[in-house]
Amino acid sequence: MTPSRRTFIRTLTAASALAVTEAVARPFGPVAPAYIPNLRRVSPNDKIRIATIGMGIQGNYDTQAALRNPDVELVAVADLYDGRLEHAKTAFGKDKNLFASRDFREVLARPDVDAVLVVTPDHWHDHITIEALKAGKHVYCEKPMVQHINEGKPVIDAWKKSGKTMQVGSQRISSSAFQEAKRMVQAGDIGTINYIESNSDRFNAIGAWNYSIPTDASPATLDWDRFLGDAPKHPFDAKRFFRWRNYKDYGTGVAGDLFIHLITGVHFVTNSMGPTRIYSSGNLAYWKDGRDVPDIMTSVMDYPKTAAHDAFQMVLRVNFANAGKISNVTRIIGNEGQIEFSEENLILTKRKLPIAPGYNGYDSFFTFTEPVKEEFKRQYDAKYPPETRVAEPVKEVRFDAPKGEDAHGAHFGDFFKNVRAGSQGTIEDPVFGFRAAAPVLASNESYFQQKVVHWNPETMTMKTGEAPASTVAKKKK
Ligand SMILES: NC(=O)c1ccc[n+]([C@@H]2O[C@H](COP(=O)([O-])OP(=O)(O)OC[C@H]3O[C@@H](n4cnc5c(N)ncnc54)[C@H](O)[C@@H]3O)[C@@H](O)[C@H]2O)c1
Repeated sequence: MTPSRRTFIRTLTAASALAVTEAVARPFGPVAPAYIPNLRRVSPNDKIRIATIGMGIQGNYDTQAALRNPDVELVAVADLYDGRLEHAKTAFGKDKNLFASRDFREVLARPDVDAVLVVTPDHWHDHITIEALKAGKHVYCEKPMVQHINEGKPVIDAWKKSGKTMQVGSQRISSSAFQEAKRMVQAGDIGTINYIESNSDRFNAIGAWNYSIPTDASPATLDWDRFLGDAPKHPFDAKRFFRWRNYKDYGTGVAGDLFIHLITGVHFVTNSMGPTRIYSSGNLAYWKDGRDVPDIMTSVMDYPKTAAHDAFQMVLRVNFANAGKISNVTRIIGNEGQIEFSEENLILTKRKLPIAPGYNGYDSFFTFTEPVKEEFKRQYDAKYPPETRVAEPVKEVRFDAPKGEDAHGAHFGDFFKNVRAGSQGTIEDPVFGFRAAAPVLASNESYFQQKVVHWNPETMTMKTGEAPASTVAKKKK
């Protein structure tokens, strides 16, 4: 036992010690520990002390982004692979004194941790988030907020009961291009929205989730049983551990990994709560490497008319085998213009039709007899005076994100601002996070079961007559 661990155990309060004992005894058991208040108040002058759970690729990027904010300090990390704990101590521990454990519950038990970053594979998000909120920690949880639809409400309930701040991590909405898109749409710059399309294509092995596997990966250097968690039992397989996105037991496929960013952006810009009808199709076309999720998927979603917007259709696409020129943008199309944007920039194109419809050109007019043509012209001139025939010129407005913009840091900035203010009102709270996650998880359900999924975005429930998502998607061990 290291000296720092000894110190931390000595400083445990009775309440947190009880919470840990219960959690250790029942990692997924029915009796949950009571909510305990945060043991340390964050005052405006205090540093916010964070711990990162999951120190893989995004865990490192998230930690760096969090620490780019003033008065934030990393005090602990958890990960299941020893190499990543060692790496974290070197990268963030200064003198290697950073508290590091394979067991996230040891991190949650530390009274000096105010907030945790949950950056594990998707199947652990709900468990760790709920345990963290119960332990009185603020939570920044990576996208998608949950792995299965039935896990959304328990996370929301835990967040509400805890009174803590929670942010979900689709950081692109904190970029100025997304904020400009929202401003334009809300100002009515493109009129009434009728269609949205967004894609996230790739063509390379790393992009298709075949991340490098460390040479010392073995059951001795990592905690395979804990990795499995509530997923089905499976013998040790380093590919499953380090390339977990390729397996639906642990990940959420292209929908949960990438559609989630697209739909989060759309909900942010349009103030939408979500679609009512979701249909997906796709294929495993190229990366036939043992994965059980598709590498090409298109999802069509119907958004109903609400107080925030008219009805529109949305089409999302991921193609991991697009060998052509890739242009990953979101296009929001309205009856007076279109906004095409990514994190880097935005192009607004405006075009307003004249009142007069025009005639001739590619039209039936030339097929009329001469007397009918004459009469048609006379009636047209009477109905449409010259001013009704002028179309507004096409306008194009371009917005470029400021050089070096740090949307990721800003997303954490919003989280920390709310932690300090004692507010639960982050830009991507769990209700927003779940309203984005549920339709993309429904995309998987539609794909695997070849059916249309009906969803109620207001109540966040499957529509009556549907089998509950839990019975089809979730396999409990
Ligand atoms: N917001 C974004 O742009 C973005 C980008 C990439 C990944 N992500 C999300 O971040 C999460 C992690 O993705 P990644 O690419 O970093 O994966 P990764 O495989 O690189 O890292 C995951 C780490 O979690 C650890 N881990 C697994 N179960 C754990 C547990 N129970 N307790 C503690 N540690 C555990 C693993 O040992 C591993 O080191 C995913 O949910 C992913 O969707 C978000």
